[in-house]
Amino acid sequence: MAFPNDFLWGGASAANQYEGGWNEGGRGVAVHDLMTDGTKDEPRRIYCMNNSGDEVTIQQGECIPFGYEGHLKEGYYYPSHQATDFYHNYKEDIALMAEMGFKTFRLSISWTRVFPNGDDERPNEAGLQFYDSVIDELIAHGIEPLVTVLHFDMPLNLASRYGGWANRKLIDFYLTFATTLFERWRDKVTYWITVNEINVLGGYWTLGLASNNRKDGSFSNQGETPMGDAGIKLQSIHHLLVASARANAIAREINPHFKLGTMCALSGIYPATCHPDDVFGAYEFRRKALMFSDVTMRGAYPNYAQSIFDAYGFELEQEDGDEDLLRENTSDFLAFSYYRTTAFDRNSPNTTTTGGQQASPNPYLEKTPWGWPIDPKGLRFVLNELYDRYQKPLFVVENGMGNVDTLEPDGSVHDEYRIAYLRDHIAEMRDAVEIDHVDLLGYTMWSAVDIVSAGTGEMKKRYGLVYVDLDDKGNGSLKRYRKDSFYWYKRVIATNGSCLE
Ligand code: BG6
Repeated sequence: MAFPNDFLWGGASAANQYEGGWNEGGRGVAVHDLMTDGTKDEPRRIYCMNNSGDEVTIQQGECIPFGYEGHLKEGYYYPSHQATDFYHNYKEDIALMAEMGFKTFRLSISWTRVFPNGDDERPNEAGLQFYDSVIDELIAHGIEPLVTVLHFDMPLNLASRYGGWANRKLIDFYLTFATTLFERWRDKVTYWITVNEINVLGGYWTLGLASNNRKDGSFSNQGETPMGDAGIKLQSIHHLLVASARANAIAREINPHFKLGTMCALSGIYPATCHPDDVFGAYEFRRKALMFSDVTMRGAYPNYAQSIFDAYGFELEQEDGDEDLLRENTSDFLAFSYYRTTAFDRNSPNTTTTGGQQASPNPYLEKTPWGWPIDPKGLRFVLNELYDRYQKPLFVVENGMGNVDTLEPDGSVHDEYRIAYLRDHIAEMRDAVEIDHVDLLGYTMWSAVDIVSAGTGEMKKRYGLVYVDLDDKGNGSLKRYRKDSFYWYKRVIATNGSCLE
């Protein structure tokens, strides 16, 4: 048998895309609550205003200008407010997961539900109680909770008052948050992920950054050269890496049996041709992503990090003790997301700072309606690449297909394209385990129930095995329907991955 008997089959989600209940139970406002919906071609936006009432808009991933603050604007739709309403439907959703035989469910905790302002002295008890109920419900159904502490979540107050993750003070606020969770669910949660996709975070949305942040988190107003967006981002991610290492140390004190992971976006990169500049260019580009898992899995910035920093004219600022912390508190497993592969073409170099994806054509691959190349073999490649490199257990915590689904009058949804996508990826994952002997802890496909797309804010870019009756503007009954993929995945889990038909 390919998959071990304790293989963790399940599905994944993130609070900002799934939970809703944005102003209930004492929850505070997060930056993502200010992000409008968008489409494949129209980016999501955040409206921002300064003290004089001047308004600008920024897009996902961009930094806010100095002195501005994001705000809600009448007449716009904000998908995170209701999302697909896990907040009020968690019992039904968990029952559906149990019906599919889920062994695990990956959820993230909304920072502002637990610490409404991010810097509060005490947590919001109502927020914790909501998650108590969710975790108890999962356990009652025999489902192991897999908790992401931070998934694209930035308390608005921490962005406005402190300048977001450019400011080292955020490390302590994060640790207060993480410690509260570790202590609260010390005996209930074993698997933790400290930060989601640490390598692709950036801008105001996920890091709370202004374009003229100084390294200490204060703002450069006039006459001074700010760090530049790439520099602010790299310095901020350093703070997150330190926060994650310190969280590992604290967690191990609280319960030495915890299994601690960090999570990176590690969809694969190929050279577009065998031209040596494509091959080396792809290799260098991949390192921009692997640099971060090198830190969390090996405990230090790799030698080549300096050349990445040099390319951006960036000088990393570390405090005494940072290097020791990173070295002594590596993660137990590497969790990663895999959706597609990208081809690196020397003639149109991919310029993202940290190895994130940009669409480049690969003539050998079909694409999803959102233009994401479908590459199951790439998953086997990446599993091997990562296991060769780290020799520590891996966990595929996101993999899935965003597609338009049709709800039939009889309540069925025939999503054979999703079944094909998942089947082909699981088959390659099985080969990686069975033939290549990669140590893989589990697979949480994206996503158990339909959720809002992070990238476009659309509802119609659906990933779930369960359909939620909701449209792009938030209209619908929120009623849940089992898709054909629901019944298919149930069989996959029941046979521990040996039957994929
Ligand atoms: C990952 C994120 O990058 O990709 C998820 O961790 C996200 O939050 C997923 O939903 C798919 O991307 P999108 O933009 O299609 O939702």
